[in-house]
Amino acid sequence: MDQYIIKGGNPLVGEVEIGGAKNAALAILAAAIMTDDTVRLENLPDVNDINVLLEAIGGIGAKVERVDRHTAVINGSTIGDISVDYEYIKKIRASYYLLGALLGKYKKAEVPLPGGCNIGSRPIDLHLKGFRALGATVDIKYGAIVASAPDGLHGTHIFMDTVSVGATINIMMAASMAKGNTIIENAAKEPHVVDTANFLNSMGANIKGAGTDVIRIRGVEMLHSTNYSIVPDMIEAGTYMFAAAATRGDIVIKNVIPKHLEAITAKLEEIGCEVEEFDDAVRVISAKKLRRTHVKTLPYPGYPTDMQPQIAVALALASGTSIVTESIFENRFKYADELTRMGACVKVEGNTAIIDGVDKLTGARVSAPDLRAGAALVIAGLAAEGITIVDDIVYIQRGYEDFEGKLKSLGAEIERVTSEKEIQKFKLRIG
Ligand code: UD1
Repeated sequence: MDQYIIKGGNPLVGEVEIGGAKNAALAILAAAIMTDDTVRLENLPDVNDINVLLEAIGGIGAKVERVDRHTAVINGSTIGDISVDYEYIKKIRASYYLLGALLGKYKKAEVPLPGGCNIGSRPIDLHLKGFRALGATVDIKYGAIVASAPDGLHGTHIFMDTVSVGATINIMMAASMAKGNTIIENAAKEPHVVDTANFLNSMGANIKGAGTDVIRIRGVEMLHSTNYSIVPDMIEAGTYMFAAAATRGDIVIKNVIPKHLEAITAKLEEIGCEVEEFDDAVRVISAKKLRRTHVKTLPYPGYPTDMQPQIAVALALASGTSIVTESIFENRFKYADELTRMGACVKVEGNTAIIDGVDKLTGARVSAPDLRAGAALVIAGLAAEGITIVDDIVYIQRGYEDFEGKLKSLGAEIERVTSEKEIQKFKLRIG
């Protein structure tokens, strides 16, 4: 089992390049099978979730060629099976996007109920409600969602009860190949919703309004080939921004869209960091003791739930008492006990964490409970005095490409290890 071993205490300084957005790439990869033509995707992050979805797409018969680390060519004309294997689905939740893609293209799909990060109960009722509104029958049989629309899908007017990224994208995909017009109200506005809409439009879909609460889709009969480059990952970028904050560092984060980072930038400035914005980069300088704040996670353009554990680590080192409110997922504070073992003072009550800042954290053996909390614990280890070992880093590898390599280039002392022998070697090396 892979672990990270970290010797903390160094401010992270330097430049880091951000890759393509995992969550955009997952939706776009699924949408790529909706045409029988060849689709070329660039700026794909080389992370486990993407590799699993590529396998899942290959598993239903599509041709998938990995041209290089960040480029894949996909051809969906050879798909012979609309039934996706559970092996893939249990590993990545976003394989539910194959439902919208297959249902849109073939008017039928069979996809097992999804797995993914354990950050709370994650219903998909809104996805299914949307497919039904488009005219599909949807049943759950033997652990799988079976959707079919033998007479085709038809445009409709859908009001989303809750703002959902996944449901918005899934319904948008299926509606792209429905007869007539669909309107999705109370749609999610995240950059990856916009990126998926742009991708579908580049294949000939007719989607307007992505990035606002109302998305209008005029269904088309066929989609065609495209070359497309995935948008930069705002959560990967935000993670390095908070790594700078917590380690009192100075990092230039390159290949980003600063507009997507506004909520994160605002919080960093509030807690005492300096943030400089460039055309496609941001620089975070953390020179002073951090200050307390309150933060509440919200759908975009609010403060992202996927950045909640990372800000909590910075606030654990800030002066005063901070309150972090999680309003999207109910089980996203599983890092709190681990942080406490590192000397933080965190008390969780319902959907809030009350954090009394401390002067320093100290290294400990901790375990990554999920993807973003895992990354946050690595940041905590980098800021802490002494040695931290992070277990279960398989979660982190789901969403961060070459995390340890990028951190090392910023001066971090971090190593991925697989045995006690390697841990001892690291300890000897750092003295
Ligand atoms: C996506 C992201 C995830 C991020 C989340 C919120 C991917 C692969 N994952 O997850 O990293 O944390 O957006 O930004 O892109 N809900 C329902 N019924 C549904 C669907 C959702 O009640 O059918 C609720 C959820 O329980 C949650 C809220 O809606 O409380 C938002 O979830 P949603 O935006 O759908 O998250 P995901 O798409 O699963």
